[in-house]
Amino acid sequence: MDWHAWHTAYDDPRSRLARRLVAVRERIREALDDCPPGPVRALSICAGQGVDLLGVLAEHPRRGDVTARLVELDPRNADAARAAAAAADLKGVEVVTGDAALPARYVGAAPAELVLACGVFGNITAEDIARTLDHCTHLVASGGTLVWTRGRVEPDLFPTVRRWLAERGFEELWVSAPDADFGVGAHRFAGRPLPLADPAAPMFTFVGYDRLRRRAG
Ligand SMILES: C[S@@+](CC[C@H](N)C(=O)[O-])C[C@H]1O[C@@H](n2cnc3c(N)ncnc32)[C@H](O)[C@@H]1O
Repeated sequence: MDWHAWHTAYDDPRSRLARRLVAVRERIREALDDCPPGPVRALSICAGQGVDLLGVLAEHPRRGDVTARLVELDPRNADAARAAAAAADLKGVEVVTGDAALPARYVGAAPAELVLACGVFGNITAEDIARTLDHCTHLVASGGTLVWTRGRVEPDLFPTVRRWLAERGFEELWVSAPDADFGVGAHRFAGRPLPLADPAAPMFTFVGYDRLRRRAG
């Protein structure tokens, strides 16, 4: 999978990805609107080119309060995110080129008031989604918001992710309509950080949706 080329679908406003982006950006905007005055931390797991977060930050009144860490493995995407942050003069944005599965990548930046896991849960196994959600109880600050996506393709794990979030103390703020052809959710963390079996172990293996589908047969 060429994850740089994958982003070109954002350029077509009729694409599913572009329509998903509208929903994701709206959730980001709402989360920032709701943050109390003062510094705001944001994290993006597998950030890609950062089109969701950076697109909102560029115009949001809280932009000067936000320090964000975007973690992305593909250097072309990380460079594009850095360029977008520089073009919008977002001085608080740090783009880390590296493996977002490693909890160590978030040291010093978590817990955050806003955490994005967009384009992740469709590319990892169900077991890894559950493990990543355990980690999200550490990555998301108390009262902070997790914005996440999971395509409504079979096996449709969107309802399962909602249940797993509720079990971990996340309150639902918004989910996309059942008949939308994408899945987006926003959840506020109201629980306590869970004990982790191995806090330093990778949260997930990024398999890729194409390979996951082939595995499922
Ligand atoms: C489906 S895209 C989502 C990008 C972005 N979050 C969005 O929604 O626009 C998945 C991204 O994860 C990146 N990626 C894959 N494995 C990764 C890993 N282990 N750590 C960090 N990023 C990874 C890919 O390069 C790709 O940019």
